[in-house]
Amino acid sequence: MTLSGKRILLIVGGGIAGYKALELIRVLRKRGASVRCILTKAAQEFVTPLSAASLSGDKAYTDLFSLTDEAEMGHIELSRDADLLVVAPATADLMAKMAHGFASDLASTALLATDKAVLIAPAMNVRMWEHPATKRNLAVLREDGVSVVGPDEGEMACGEFGFGRMAQPDAIADAAAALLSGGAASPAKPLAGCRALVTSGPTHEPIDPVRYIANRSSGKQGHAIARALAELGAEVTLVSGPVALADPPGVAVVKVETAAEMLAAVEARMPVDAAVFCAAVADWRVARAGDEKLKKTPGGPPSLGLVENPDILATIAKRTSGRPVLVVGFAAETEKVIEHAKAKLARKGCDWIVANDVSTPAGGTGVMGGDRNTVSIVTRDGVETWPILDKTAVAQRLAQRIAEQLKDRQWV
Ligand code: PMT
Repeated sequence: MTLSGKRILLIVGGGIAGYKALELIRVLRKRGASVRCILTKAAQEFVTPLSAASLSGDKAYTDLFSLTDEAEMGHIELSRDADLLVVAPATADLMAKMAHGFASDLASTALLATDKAVLIAPAMNVRMWEHPATKRNLAVLREDGVSVVGPDEGEMACGEFGFGRMAQPDAIADAAAALLSGGAASPAKPLAGCRALVTSGPTHEPIDPVRYIANRSSGKQGHAIARALAELGAEVTLVSGPVALADPPGVAVVKVETAAEMLAAVEARMPVDAAVFCAAVADWRVARAGDEKLKKTPGGPPSLGLVENPDILATIAKRTSGRPVLVVGFAAETEKVIEHAKAKLARKGCDWIVANDVSTPAGGTGVMGGDRNTVSIVTRDGVETWPILDKTAVAQRLAQRIAEQLKDRQWV
C-alpha cells in the first residue's frame, strides 16, 4: 500500500524496539512518505538522532526548549505539519503520558498539540502490557480516537514470552496507509470501519462464595476470532468469561463471570456490525446462590434449584432494532452435528452457525480446551465443511468469510 506524498511525524519512544523504528523510517519512505522524527530522551539511549536524521533525510527533533528548533519549526507546527503521527515504539510510559494529557517533553507536547490522526505501535514487557494501568491507558487512548497496531506475541528481549513485541515495520506502514485512506477497507484490512463483537470462554455461575458451575471452554477459539477480526481492520470488543489467556492485541476486552454479566456487557456494546458468539455459556444458574459457604449436613447434599440463563445469542439475533448485520453462533455437538446446528440456527434466529464436532473420534479435535477444531459453517443456503484446522486457522478463515459477506457494506 502506497503512502505517496504523505507526511509522517514519527515519534520514537525509549525501548529496545527503537531499532525497528529505524527500519520503519526506511519502509515508510520506500512507500512514498516523507518522515520527520522526534526522539524522546529515553529513545536516544537506544537510537541516535543522527541515525534517525540520516535515514529520514530530515532533522531529528529532541528538545522542547531548543531555541534553534523552535525558530526553525515550532513544536505546534511540527505536530500540525504532518498528515499522521506514528508513535513507535509506544512505551508504557509514553502511552500513560498520552492518556493523561501530559506535555512534559517534545514528544508528549506534539502529541497533545496535534489535530491529526495518531497511530501507536505499543512495545513493552508482557507484564507491563497486561498491567491494569496500561489497559486503562489503552482504553482511554482508543476512546480518544487513537489507532493501535500490535503488539505481537513472541519472545522478548528480556527473555519472557507473550504479547509486547512491537508490530513489524511493514504492518505499521500498512496500518498507517489504511488510516490515511480514511480507514477505508483495503485488501489487507477489508473490515476497516466495521464494529465487531465476540464472546469467548465459559461462564461461571456461583453456587456459593467458593463454588461455581462451569465448563471446559478455554477461550482459545473465541480469543483467536477476536484477534483475526482485528487483524482485518475491525474495531473489536471481546466479552470474555474467566480464562487463563492473554488479551488479544488491538482488541478491547470486557471481562465477565456469569451469563447475566455477559448479556449486560454485550448489550452495552450494541449496536455493532458483526457479532460472533463463541462463548460456552452455562445454560443454567443456581436460583439462589448461598451467601455463605454451603456446609455438609446429615440430611445429604443440598438441592441446588437451577433456573435457565438468558440466551445471549438469541436475544441479540432477535432484536428488532439495532440488530447486527451478521450474527454468528457456535454449536458444540457430540452427535448429529449438522442436524443439531441447523435446529439451533432456526431456533436462535442467527445468520450462521459454526458447528464444531466436540466428539473424540479417531483424529477428532473439537474437544474444548484443545488447539484444533473441526467445523462446518451452517447457513440458510447450505453447509460448508472445513478440514481439521488449528483454532487460529479456523479464526482467520472465519474472519475472511465474514469480510467477504460484508464486503459491499459502507460503515458509518
Ligand atoms: O474455548 P475453547 O476451549 O477454544 O472451545 C471452543 C468452544 C468449543 C467453546 C466453541 O467453539 C463453541 O462451540 N462454543 C459454543 C458452545 C456451545 O455448545 O454452545 P451452546 O450449544 O450451548 O450454544 C449455542 C450458541 O448459543 C453459542 O453461540 C453460544 O455462545 C450461545 N449461547 C448459549 C447459551 C446462552 N445462554 N447464551 C448464548 O449466547
